[in-house]
Order: sequence, then C-alpha cells, then structure tokens
Amino acid sequence: MSPIEQVIIKKDTQLNPIWIMRQAGRYLPEFREIRKKNPNFIKLCLNYNLAAEITLQPLKRFDLDAAIIFSDILILPYGLNQKVEFKKNLGPILGNLNLNEMSELNEEEFFNKVSNVYKAINLVKNNKLTENKSTIGFVGAPWTLLVYMINKRSPKQKLIENFYNDTLLLKKTLSIIERFLKIHIKNQIQNGAEIIQIFDSWAGLLESKNLSHYVYSPTSSLVKYVKSLKVPVICFPRGIKDYKDYCDKVNPDVICIDYDVDPVQISKKIKIPVQGGMDPRVLLSNRESLKKETKKYLDIFKDHPYIFNLGHGILPETDPAMMDYLVKTVKDH
Ligand code: CP3
Repeated sequence: MSPIEQVIIKKDTQLNPIWIMRQAGRYLPEFREIRKKNPNFIKLCLNYNLAAEITLQPLKRFDLDAAIIFSDILILPYGLNQKVEFKKNLGPILGNLNLNEMSELNEEEFFNKVSNVYKAINLVKNNKLTENKSTIGFVGAPWTLLVYMINKRSPKQKLIENFYNDTLLLKKTLSIIERFLKIHIKNQIQNGAEIIQIFDSWAGLLESKNLSHYVYSPTSSLVKYVKSLKVPVICFPRGIKDYKDYCDKVNPDVICIDYDVDPVQISKKIKIPVQGGMDPRVLLSNRESLKKETKKYLDIFKDHPYIFNLGHGILPETDPAMMDYLVKTVKDH
C-alpha cells in the first residue's frame, strides 16, 4: 500500500506523504521545453508519450508520493465536441455549446476523442518511477465544468451576467456533464488511476442558497460512484465557506483545503483525512519562511491523517530549488 493510501485507508497520522497540485507544469524548465514545441495544449495532453513523460518529470527530481496525470479538466468538454483553446495570458477559451449535438453523443465517440488520456495513465502506472506511489486521476466537478461550458472562459471574479437565465440549458448541460464524468472516471480507473481527485475550482462563486443544487447534489452522486468502484476520492471545493458542511453533505474520503481557510479550525472540526492548505506564494519567499510555514501545517495536523499539498496549484514563477526544499522539509519532519 502506498503512503497516501495508508493515510486514507488506515488513517495513519505519522507518515505525512506529499504531492503538489500542478507538480507537472510551467515552473519546470523541462516542461517549458516540451511546451515550446507543442503550442496546442489539448493536443499535448492527448500525445500519450509526452503526457506520460511530463507526468513523470517531477518524480525524477523530487521524492513525491504521487503522480498526477498530465491532462486537464477541460478534456471533458473537448470530448463532448465543444471547442477548447488555451490562449496566452487569457486562459482557456471555449467555443459555442451545441446542446442538440451533445445530447446525441454516445460513449464510444467520447471515448475515441479522449482515449489517449487513458493510454498515458497506463504508461505512468506501469513505469518504475511510480512503484510504491499513487497514480492519481482527476476530473473537474460538475459545477466547475458547467461554469466553463456556459461561461466559455475563466470567470475570475464573477459569472457572465445572464448565466442563470436559461434554466433548461443549465439543467440539460449539467446532466450531460454528470453522465460523461462517470464514464471518464471509470476509464481512468480501468487504466491504472488508483485515486480520483475532483477539482471544484469555482465552488466559491456560489451563493449558499445554490450550493445544494449545483455542488452538493451532483458531487455527492459522483463521490458515491467513485466509491462504488472501490477507489478513494479526494474533493477540492476551492473557496467554499463551510468545509465542514461540504464534508457532511458530499462525503469524500479526503478533503483538500484551500489557503484561505484556517487549518486549525479544520483540524478541530473535520474528522476525515485532510490534504493541502499552504499558500503557494510561500514558495516565492525564502527558505526560512518556507520551512516555518511548512512545519506550521505539519504541526497543526500532527494527530490527523494528513497529506501535504498546497492550497492551490504551484505557481509558474516558483524556483524548482524551493520545491526541492519543501519536499525535503516534509520528508525530514
Ligand atoms: O496538477 C497537475 O500537475 C496535473 C495536471 C493539471 C493541469 N490542469 C495541467 C495544466 C490539472 C490537475 C489541471 C486541473 C485544472 N485545469 C483546473 C483545476 C485546478 C485549478 O487550477 O483550479 C482548472 C480550473 C483547469 C483549467 C485550466 N487549465 C486553466 C484555467 C488553465 C490556464 C491557466 C493556468 O493556470 O495556466 C489551464 C492550463 C493548464 N493546465 C496548464 C497546465 C500545466 C498550463 C498550460 C500552459 O503550459 O500554458
């Protein structure tokens, strides 16, 4: 059993395994080298040899306990035939959503468009570098995908003005998302994903009166589904105000917390294993502050099953030497 699984399944409180969101990414020069030659980001995700190589890049440098597959949550709308592009400094831009066409899409057509993601997982899982480590697959949460598919770009601070107007569109799109997310999860697991993380990056945009409909209900159904496949599930509802309520309603195996929440409160209120929390900007400071802040999280969670991670993805401007120092600090604790 890998160290992360020991924390999740056996509730080990001593191990403190570590992996980092976006650990395969732009802060690594070897990633930027490949990226420069592959300007189309989605195509890069679907080049299974390169996707596997990028996934393994951070494991060659650092003593991490997991590989998270190099892909993107927006592979799902891509697989549903919605155009997805990544423009420099703008983030993702999605094309028009053709609901009639999407409603008729079958599982096989979806599979054919995205199956290279599963091939990449297979390569990663069978590589020596992931021995005794967890291979993590992931999806976007139904709500966050709905946001991208309707809004067609990152909402940053707020949604487009008429986001909630067309209730039928919202309802039908959400139902398609839920159906294909299950297919996407099942295929990742069949090809070697041992843990699934659900990223709800825009959970914090919702008013509490809408949380139940858009977040709790569809995500808990997905969580149940992952559990039925005998695989642990980590949920990351970024920006949500009440993590305790989220855990009670959604029931994940592990809750991943963002850097705006008080970890002391979390450790007191929440009984299930916790992951993450530290502000990624700490890695832009100096070794002394990094060590202090890292130890703060490890101390707060010293009697709690805890997986070290950040409170959001590692920033592109991070010096890889600081990442190295972070991993060593956690391992030496
Ligand atoms: O964590 C990992 O190392 C695995 C790979 C991974 C990527 N995206 C690769 C990526 C994962 C888990 C994601 C998840 C993802 N993608 C989320 C949820 C997490 C979060 O950040 O809140 C979201 C919202 C997306 C959508 C997305 N993809 C955005 C908004 C952007 C552009 C902004 C940005 O951060 O670059 C991407 C592009 C993206 N996905 C990059 C990477 C490495 C950068 C691509 C580049 O080289 O330009």
